[in-house]
Amino acid sequence: MKTKKPIKDVIRQRYSCRTYSKTAFKKDLKDQVEQVLADSPAGPFGSRPRFALIAATDEDRDALKTLGTYGFIKDPAGFMISAVSPSPRNLEDFGYVMERNILHATDLDLGTCWLGGSFTKSTFAEKIGAGDDETVPAVASIGYAAPKKSMLEKAIRWGAGSKNRKPWEDLFFENGFNISISPGDAGRWAEPMEMVRIGPSASNRQPWRIVHEPDTNRLHFYLQRSKGYKARNKMLFGMADLQRVDMGIAMCHFEMTCRDSGLNGNWAFDEPDIGKLPELTEYVASWRAAL
Ligand SMILES: Cc1cc2nc3c(=O)[nH]c(=O)nc-3n(C[C@H](O)[C@H](O)[C@H](O)COP(=O)(O)O)c2cc1C
Repeated sequence: MKTKKPIKDVIRQRYSCRTYSKTAFKKDLKDQVEQVLADSPAGPFGSRPRFALIAATDEDRDALKTLGTYGFIKDPAGFMISAVSPSPRNLEDFGYVMERNILHATDLDLGTCWLGGSFTKSTFAEKIGAGDDETVPAVASIGYAAPKKSMLEKAIRWGAGSKNRKPWEDLFFENGFNISISPGDAGRWAEPMEMVRIGPSASNRQPWRIVHEPDTNRLHFYLQRSKGYKARNKMLFGMADLQRVDMGIAMCHFEMTCRDSGLNGNWAFDEPDIGKLPELTEYVASWRAAL
């Protein structure tokens, strides 16, 4: 299913919306979001998170304050929630499919915000009927964006540096991590890479790195972890490994942008031999471009 607007416009339109108009969903819009969730595909690694749209109650709004989500979310109409079964790359798949659903909601001109927290034992997990082996790694608020951001939202955006993104040379490389590339060097990959760069990530840490191998037409995706982030989130809030979720989001932006511009390919485990990786860096997957 394609978005109505070009995907790069939808990706540019999305931002973390934390102030909503206190309006319940209109029936036809709710039906459309539910259809998007019902059409959720499997992720690139083959697992299939379950999704549900729930209307926000006062109880959910109160619960959010105690679940470790750092944003103050005002008056969303609802939440997109998901239950994830155990599998080796389930969090990447979850990030990919949830972001795909967020982009479709953005295409319908709805506001959304990713919320990472300790949801697995919360009322959110109850509402999706999460089984004993399932987790709820994150949820997304959804609703009609208020015409003006609250002062608190402005402060949070400033605190998280939400408008800022790392420069190209920190994120994209050729044949290894020693040579950075600029948009001018990236040819047909410039747009998909830029769509990765402007994507959302937990605490705006931007842990994605891509190494392009022009000779084999492959783009290798790596996770470069922020030191201590996973352990701290787990210890303080019992949170999932959100940087793996970020990788799924990056893969979603990359693939949707490629497909929209006719750049076909597929995901594979194709780890290249590029010597010692930078500190805290691990291989995730590769995009094999069709010739
Ligand atoms: C996995 C994940 C978890 C996040 N958790 C929260 C959260 O708990 N609270 C919040 O206000 N924003 C959260 N965010 C939003 C990020 O802070 C935001 O994406 C980043 O600052 C970039 O800003 P932008 O989304 O407006 O482009 C999360 C984003 C991701 C991808």
